[in-house]
Amino acid sequence: MSCCHNYYVATEGNESVFSVDISSITFGHGVLKEAGEHAKALGMSRVALFTDKRLGSLPYVAQVRDSLKAAGLDVVIYDEVKVEPTDQSFLAAAKFAAEGKFDGYVSVGGGSVIDTCKAANLYATWPADFLDYVNAPIGAGKPVPGALKPHIACPTTCGTGSECTGITIFDLLAMQVKTGIASRRLKPSMALIEPATTYTLPKNVVAASGFDVLSHALESYTAKPYTRRAAPGKPALRPMSQGANPWSDLGCEAALTRLGQYLERAVNDASDHEARDEMMYAATLAGIAFGNSGVHVPHGMAYSVAGLVKDFRPEGYPQEEPMVPHGMSVIVNAPSVFRFTASACPERHIHGAACLGADTKGATAADAAEIVAAQLIKMMKATGIPNGVGGVGYGEADVAGLTKGAWAQQRLLTNAPREITEKDLGQLYRGAMRYW
Ligand SMILES: [Fe+2]
Repeated sequence: MSCCHNYYVATEGNESVFSVDISSITFGHGVLKEAGEHAKALGMSRVALFTDKRLGSLPYVAQVRDSLKAAGLDVVIYDEVKVEPTDQSFLAAAKFAAEGKFDGYVSVGGGSVIDTCKAANLYATWPADFLDYVNAPIGAGKPVPGALKPHIACPTTCGTGSECTGITIFDLLAMQVKTGIASRRLKPSMALIEPATTYTLPKNVVAASGFDVLSHALESYTAKPYTRRAAPGKPALRPMSQGANPWSDLGCEAALTRLGQYLERAVNDASDHEARDEMMYAATLAGIAFGNSGVHVPHGMAYSVAGLVKDFRPEGYPQEEPMVPHGMSVIVNAPSVFRFTASACPERHIHGAACLGADTKGATAADAAEIVAAQLIKMMKATGIPNGVGGVGYGEADVAGLTKGAWAQQRLLTNAPREITEKDLGQLYRGAMRYW
């Protein structure tokens, strides 16, 4: 089978070097009680503790707050974080951060909380017009000028991997589009990961966040290899999303294997603590991997699936406003996308499906697209994921709008293993409308 991921074959003018940005991770039961000592070691004395209203009433925030206080630190809680943050909620958090004169940040929550904390730290430390740091072409994509204040991230969902990445995502309300800021400077100084935080999560939340993890791993594993990017003029210009590389492959394969073994169990039985612990570790592995390689088309398409939501209100999530949870907005695109990308690196698609539990004995390159799509669809059905983009409320009349939003995500689209046109994107949404 042909392979575009033969890493050490040099091509004139192309990148020949990859870099490994290690996240500092402390993982295991009881770790949140160590928050105070770690914060002190990072030089914090006055701490902004970010969370959201729902989490604020759970024991984890109290554990972290008590630990910070026991270490003699001054703690101020910010619980105004919006689930699925916006430019406005980022700006409100940044205002709080600037006024509070903090020398450190701790976030306890899902991706929304950690991302909001990253943005607040950024704009309070290096004030600028909001769009200055936002990814081009939507924003100016300016580099962050220097280090941020230390930030300890404590995730409470087994999904986003935000604790391991230098990415923050939000809805830009004026343009009705999800976009983000990407910089190594945004990566939290350390992550404290308590797997028991997943034990109380509703089934649908575990499913959506689990498939987010799955797609992080499979997208990173099949991303365009770093050796197919043009060489940067100088090392500082090397992008964080550098493409598939030997380091990120390790985390992807290990995460996919765990997801194949434990995702269904973790979703369908809240008392299966072994499965939920493993999901948290899979999320960590996939977070490290995609933080070093980058995701591609399923995530690129997800931005408009989430951003243009009509009246979809999934069980287990706040019901006030319609929403497509991030992981759901990603995975509904995935079988259609991997059918499209399989021809670029069939062996990676087959191996990814095998890690997830598919029987790939005797498979040839021609089988790759169907093997990977069938495995994803089987797992989606077994865990109550909606039936494609149509299952979260869209139809043929929405394809143009969805495509327009996704086409703006060039940073992600160009990380795909094969080139993709705007017309292809429309076809991918059509292929994702319904799977069964
Ligand atoms: Fe994601």
